[in-house]
Parts: sequence; C-alpha cells; structure tokens
Amino acid sequence: MTSDGTILVEHLSKSFGTVRAVDDLSFQVTPGRVTGFLGPNGAGKTTTLRMLLGLVRPTSGAATIGGRTYGQITRPLKTVGAALEASSFHPGRTARDHLRLFAPQVGVPDARADEVIDLVGLSDARDRRVGVFSLGMRQRLALATTLLGDPRVLLLDEPANGLDPEGIRWLRGFLRALAGEGRTILVSSHVLSEVEQTVDDVVIIARGRLAHASSLAELAGMAAPRVRVVSPDPDGLAALVERSGWRRTDAGDPRVAQLLDVTAATVGAAAFAAGVELHELAAQDPGLEGLFLKLVGSTEAGPVEPGSVPPGSVEVSA
Ligand SMILES: Nc1ncnc2c1ncn2[C@@H]1O[C@H](COP(=O)(O)OP(=O)(O)OP(=O)(O)O)[C@@H](O)[C@H]1O
Ligand SMILES: [Mg+2]
Repeated sequence: MTSDGTILVEHLSKSFGTVRAVDDLSFQVTPGRVTGFLGPNGAGKTTTLRMLLGLVRPTSGAATIGGRTYGQITRPLKTVGAALEASSFHPGRTARDHLRLFAPQVGVPDARADEVIDLVGLSDARDRRVGVFSLGMRQRLALATTLLGDPRVLLLDEPANGLDPEGIRWLRGFLRALAGEGRTILVSSHVLSEVEQTVDDVVIIARGRLAHASSLAELAGMAAPRVRVVSPDPDGLAALVERSGWRRTDAGDPRVAQLLDVTAATVGAAAFAAGVELHELAAQDPGLEGLFLKLVGSTEAGPVEPGSVPPGSVEVSA
C-alpha cells in the first residue's frame, strides 16, 4: 500500500437524458477511514460509484483514485475492490469456483480464493452452489470477491443490505479492521442508522447534489442534544425548566421531562444549583436519523426508474 488511495470527486455530473443523476458533486474520501456514502433511493450513489469505476462516463467533472481515473490505474483489480448492486453470481457455481474463476483476472493464485472465503466467514459454505445462498451470504461472497486482489481501496454499494444484526456487527468490525490497515473504504447506504456505528466520515447526497460532508462526530454535533430528566419534585422541575428557558417536549407524567437543545451537564448543574432533586439525568440519542432526513429533504425520494433492479441483488464488478 504505497501510493495514496485518496478518492477525489470533483464537480462530477452525469445526465441520463433529462435525468440529472449526479449534479456538480465534489467530495474527498481519506485512506485509513471508513466513509459512509449516504442518500435516499435514487440520490445518485451507485451512479457515482460507477463513474469512479469507469463504468459510466461522466457528463462533466472527474472522479479519481490516488490521482488517477480507474482507466489509468495500472493494475486496477489489485488497487480497487468494488461490489456494486444489480446482477448476480452464476447460480450453478460454488462460492469457491466463483472466486477461482475470478482469481486469474485479478492476477492472484487460486489459493487466494480460499483465503478470502475464510476472511468473510463463508468457510462452511465454500462448496455450496451460490444459487442457494441467502442474501447475506451473497453479500459476503461479493465482499470476498472485492478482497481477492488485496486492494487498498474498497467501494461497497449497500454492503449491509440483507445482513442480519449479527452480520451487520461482523461487517462493522471487518470494515473497521480494513480501514485500520490504511485502506480507503467507501460504503454506501440509504439509511444513516445502518452505518452510524461503522463510519468515521459521512458524505450525504440528495438528488445528485452534495447535502453534507464531514466527520460523523461533526454531524452528531449538529444534531440537537436531548436530555431526559426524572425528578420526584414536579413543581421544582417545572419551575427550573421555565426559568432556564429549556424546550420541554413531553406531556404526561410531570415527574419526567424530555428537554431539547440542552446537554445533561447543563441540566445537572442547574438542578444542583437550584436544589431540585433528580432521580434520573440521561443524554438521549441525538437523533442522527432525523438530521439525516432533514439534510436530504426527506419526504420526496428521488425518481424511481421503471424496471430498476430490486435492492438487495448483488453485482460484483471489478
Ligand atoms: N443507466 C441509467 N439510465 C437512466 N437513468 C439512470 C441510469 N442509472 C441511473 N439512472 C437514474 O439516476 C438516478 C440516480 O440513480 P442511482 O442508481 O445512482 O441512485 P442510488 O443513490 O444508487 O439509489 P438507490 O439507493 O436506490 O440504490 C435515478 O433517477 C436513476 O433512475
Ligand atoms: Mg444504488
């Protein structure tokens, strides 16, 4: 992993007829980190990945990996591992056959097939036909295929799709470990919550345009903090909330207050100073998903193309 695996997308646009799938999109993906590429259905994620892979020609702008377009990379299959949505594996082949067929194209020995099968936890299924694989198993096989060439850059389109909670937890650890080795990992998803615990950085797009790019921590900082307070002294609590000008969103039990836009530390200090007894004081989930929906303008999804591929099918492209 000598040369740089930085992904650079600069003023990238792609029109299909009248549909502007990607619209003046710019962002950067840093090696050694897992980056979530997020946006609702039809936002332009797959189209962007296809342009990075040289499968779709940009209308304008550029998409490069380590300063080169995919076509300029000397041994692309050893540099970039990619799993895109759509199409599928030959159902009659076993997992091992699939990988062994692919190995010479990548330029690695047959034995590498067994290594990557083990890496993705498919050891017990290596000799089973892919046709009987579950969606989660296909995802793992797709991932195994991307790893054949030990690439320093991984582009994964919705890799968590079809994985059960255990599989998602496994993927999380797996991607984190790969990033820890200095690889560049770009993972797309249409739900932030799915990758929230996996990614270091986020690139959020909507209708082909950049909606937000930052570290996940920075994004979380933009979400309104929320605090839940329980007090045996409803009157004291109500007076404190009123005096402090906090926004209270709850109704019902007067001993419980849900507060918006304030931190637990602030509430705790104020309650202590006012002598209001608290039995509970808890910072709540900052509501990242809500923020995500706001950023992408929620309600309206992108245009859905007739005959589009159902989510969940897996194509291995390289
Ligand atoms: N080959 C194509 N021909 C015409 N339109 C296309 C083509 N590929 C994509 N589009 C359109 O471009 C837009 C973006 O599609 P894209 O598949 O990139 O979105 P996405 O973010 O990957 O969505 P999803 O979350 O559903 O996978 C959509 O409106 C889609 O219909
Ligand atoms: Mg897609």
